[in-house]
Amino acid sequence: MKASIRSLIGMAGMAWLVAVVPASAQQPIVIKFSHVVAQDTPKGQGAQKFKELAEQATNGRVKVEVYPNSTLYKDKEELEALQLGSVQMLAPSLAKFGPLGVKEFELFDIPYIFPNKDVLYRVTDGPIGKQLFKKLEPKGILGLAYWDNGFKEMTANKPLHVPGDVKGLKMRIQSSKVLDAQMRALGANPQVMAFSEVYQALQTGVVDGTENTPSNIYTQKMHEVQKHLSLTDHGYIGYAVIVNKKFWDSLPSDIRASLEEAMRGATKYANSISQADNDKALEEIRKAGKTTIYKPTDKEMAEWRAALKPVQQEVAGRVGKDLIEAVNKEAAAAGGNK
Ligand code: LMR
Repeated sequence: MKASIRSLIGMAGMAWLVAVVPASAQQPIVIKFSHVVAQDTPKGQGAQKFKELAEQATNGRVKVEVYPNSTLYKDKEELEALQLGSVQMLAPSLAKFGPLGVKEFELFDIPYIFPNKDVLYRVTDGPIGKQLFKKLEPKGILGLAYWDNGFKEMTANKPLHVPGDVKGLKMRIQSSKVLDAQMRALGANPQVMAFSEVYQALQTGVVDGTENTPSNIYTQKMHEVQKHLSLTDHGYIGYAVIVNKKFWDSLPSDIRASLEEAMRGATKYANSISQADNDKALEEIRKAGKTTIYKPTDKEMAEWRAALKPVQQEVAGRVGKDLIEAVNKEAAAAGGNK
């Protein structure tokens, strides 16, 4: 008898506790956001902005833990971790979806396919961007946003003025078959490697050179181990911000709406700083004085374009002829050159 009275009081007490403890004091929903670049990059800043906006908008009911610089997972592992639900959010480069079986994203790796950022935004913000995100859903992944980084430059320990200069070099690439085709078109020997391993591979001579955006080159100190950088702007790096679909669908709808709003804010922010961030990084590389920065002449640029032009045709079977045509149409509609 005594025991059941005690348990009744206990139950009432519990009910009282649940009623008076505000939602914000309950266990927060944790979003682990893993990425491979430094915090001081467009993606790193975008992730921080999302954390700030998401925690603010949900009044602390959501906690976003950002793990930059491959501290939690490297490239390939992070995609597996997302599917397993060990992390909830990532922003891999668009060049890294091939191993997942969604090779259409490699569209973004086709050399010189985007004459400028306007065309790129027409693609990511329009039906093509949506169509690509749809392809992730059967993999248990939802695409939330596209984040910008910038155009890539070539680096090595020898001057790279014309395409022929890359011939015979071992060049690190991301895990994209289009990038493999690109390097082979230049007569180089492409080596797929996780981003976190590139600095050491360049330092020890495991590879001779690489391609990346100035902000990635600078924040990973690649310029300290690469004597030459050529402003070829031959390709693009951008990101798909993705979540584990099961996790996202399980969120209370008001929380999900707040997070979507926070993601819109973070996307706007990340895309607004990307160009300036890369310009600043290039200046820092110049100031560091360890790398000679070379701007190819118009004639040399024409040579780079000509050497890489066949890649588009070559990868059409893999990426999708229609998709490539749709991007080329956007480019023609936008007009102009970078
Ligand atoms: C790379 O591996 O070079 C890039 O994808 C890294 C990044 O996320 O920008």
